Amino acid sequence: MTQTQLEESVEYLIKKGFDKPEIGIVLGTGLGQLVDAIENPIEAHYNHIPYFPLATVEFHSGKLIYGTISGKKVVVMQGRFHLYEGYDFLDITYPIRTMHMLGIQKLFVSNAAGAINLNFKKGEIMLIEDHINLQGGSPLAFKNVSEFGDRFVDMSEPYDLDMRTKIEAIANKEGISLQKGVYVSVVGPQLETKAEYRMLKILGADAVGMSTVPEVIVANHLRLPIVAVSVLTDECDPDNLQPINIEEIIRIAGEAEPKMIQLFKELIKEI
Ligand code: HPA
Repeated sequence: MTQTQLEESVEYLIKKGFDKPEIGIVLGTGLGQLVDAIENPIEAHYNHIPYFPLATVEFHSGKLIYGTISGKKVVVMQGRFHLYEGYDFLDITYPIRTMHMLGIQKLFVSNAAGAINLNFKKGEIMLIEDHINLQGGSPLAFKNVSEFGDRFVDMSEPYDLDMRTKIEAIANKEGISLQKGVYVSVVGPQLETKAEYRMLKILGADAVGMSTVPEVIVANHLRLPIVAVSVLTDECDPDNLQPINIEEIIRIAGEAEPKMIQLFKELIKEI
C-alpha cells in the first residue's frame, strides 16, 4: 500500500461525485437496509475502484455508496472485506484509509455478532466500549507504516466517548434497549466450539465476531473518532449450544437493523 495508490482510489471516487463526505459508515453482514435511507445515492462497485481489494465471486455486491442521510454527506460501505475470505489486514482496512482520505471526520461501524454475555439476547444491539483482538495480527504491522502515522498507536480509548454518550442518550429517548460491552474479534469463518465460547467469556468478551477490530485499529491510527455497534444474532451458551444457522443469523440481523438505523440516523443529526 502506498499513498499514491490511495490518492488514485480517491481521485476515482471524487470524479464519480463523492464530494467531501463527513461520515463513513461500514455495514456488517445482513445489515443492508440503511442503504435505503441514503438520499441522492452515487454508487461505486469495489471492483471498479483502483487498488481496492479484488472482490470474490461471493462478494460481487460490495460497493461504496455516497449520498446524504439526515442532511449530512455520508459514504457507506455496503459489505466489507474479511480475513476469512483470504484477504490480509492491509486489504480489509484499505477502504477505511480511502474514506479517510476522502475527508470523513467520523466513522460508524456495525457488525453481526454472537452474544457471549448471556444477559444479552439475540436481536439486541450492543454498543462496543472496548475490544480484544484475537485475529493474530495487526493492520499496522507493515514496513512503511510510519508514512501513514504513528507505529505505536494509543488504544486506551479506541471508541469515541462523546459519540458513545450521545448514542446512549438516543437509545434511551427512543426506547431502544442498548447493551454495552467488549467485542472480541476472531478470524473465522468457522464458528466457535463450546470450549472456545467458555474461553472468550473468561477473557472478558461480551460479544464475538469476525470483523471490526482491524478497521477500528486503523481508524485510531488515523485519529478518526469511531462509534461501533454489534447486532447480536445468536446466543453463545456453551452449556446449550445450538448448531449454527446462517440463514437465522442473517434474518435476526435484518429484524434488528431498523433499531440500528434509528440510532445511526439520530446520531448523524447530532454530530
Ligand atoms: N461467532 C463469531 N462470529 C459471529 C457469531 C458467533 O457466534 N455470530 C455472528 N457472528
